[in-house]
Amino acid sequence: MQTVNMKPATSAHSDTAHRVTALNRNDQPFHVVLAQQFDRPMMDQLCQLADMIRTIANSRQGSRFLRTLLNHRRAMLYFIQPSTRTFLSFTAACQIVGLPYNSVRDRSTSSEVKGESEDDTIRTFSQYFDLIIMRHPMEGFAEHVATMLNNMPRTIPVINAGSGKDQHPTQALLDIYTLYRSLADPQDARTGPRYTRNVFAGKTIAFVGDLKRGRTVRSLAYLLCRYPGVRLVFVSPPELKIGEDILEYLTRHDIEYDVAEDLRTSIGEYDAVYMTRLQDEHDVDGESKSIDYDRYSITREMMPDFKPNLAILHPLPRRNELDARLDATPYAKYWQQVRNGMWMRAALIASIFNVDVPIRDHYQAYYTF
Ligand code: NCD
Repeated sequence: MQTVNMKPATSAHSDTAHRVTALNRNDQPFHVVLAQQFDRPMMDQLCQLADMIRTIANSRQGSRFLRTLLNHRRAMLYFIQPSTRTFLSFTAACQIVGLPYNSVRDRSTSSEVKGESEDDTIRTFSQYFDLIIMRHPMEGFAEHVATMLNNMPRTIPVINAGSGKDQHPTQALLDIYTLYRSLADPQDARTGPRYTRNVFAGKTIAFVGDLKRGRTVRSLAYLLCRYPGVRLVFVSPPELKIGEDILEYLTRHDIEYDVAEDLRTSIGEYDAVYMTRLQDEHDVDGESKSIDYDRYSITREMMPDFKPNLAILHPLPRRNELDARLDATPYAKYWQQVRNGMWMRAALIASIFNVDVPIRDHYQAYYTF
């Protein structure tokens, strides 16, 4: 097993700024590793671009245009941690923008079994491909890869598709996109929400469940700091509380938050609820077996207490914490969330390769009157 000098997940303000600088080029994300790399204008633009791509991709002619954009590049999907949605979402996103891809999902099929270091495996990818999209069980590993690639003769970008218990920035981007589309007022929704408006101001968003080990919540909390006036509530069993580093970050960014233990009595306060499953694959000794996780589930019986426009999100996969009998109600946004992810990832890939401009031009030419 190689030893890698990894950065801790927690860091002071100046350290975060330094890490972001190392991942960006010209103040834009080159590698996509940390949610803290994204500011409001970047998120607004990605949401707009995702909307444009989904409109353009709807016609045969439009989808043919999109597929011409990146067919001279190649992507490697290195996913050595289980994944259904994120993997398929990225493959679909690659297909939308015409980016050919290959994948490694099982280390036993790579030269790592011959004793090659994982770093050398990834260095090899960098010689064949133009982008690495990776999911890895170890916190900080995607950031380590970005640093390593910066020192290669041929530097290519890496996208973090989930790193241990730490971060999952692309999930957080699609969550923002989904929240935007769900919380925008109906007037906006008819014309497509205008993303430059802060729809989160005055809204309360609850995160529910295993907040200690859920990486999606951590990344989304970072992104929501960009929306002044939003209020966040972290509802979890005492053993699975959100990390202090996130709470400190919120305080530093003047974001109001509460930490709570009971969902049932507070459900009526929320404009959006972000459910999460128990992340028991991270248990060291089955310690979460003693937790009463049923208290952190949302059920159809709770519907009378919901706000009329409540949006329920979940990164999925779900277990019992999200009642399938809610699926057919207007509160359920999690299946749209899955689809939004594909458009958002297509927008992100297009932006990384600077083909967002031709997409905007195409949209202006054919879809605005
Ligand atoms: C999440 C993940 O992998 O962190 N899933 C996803 O990417 N949609 C959430 C989870 O596994 O619980």
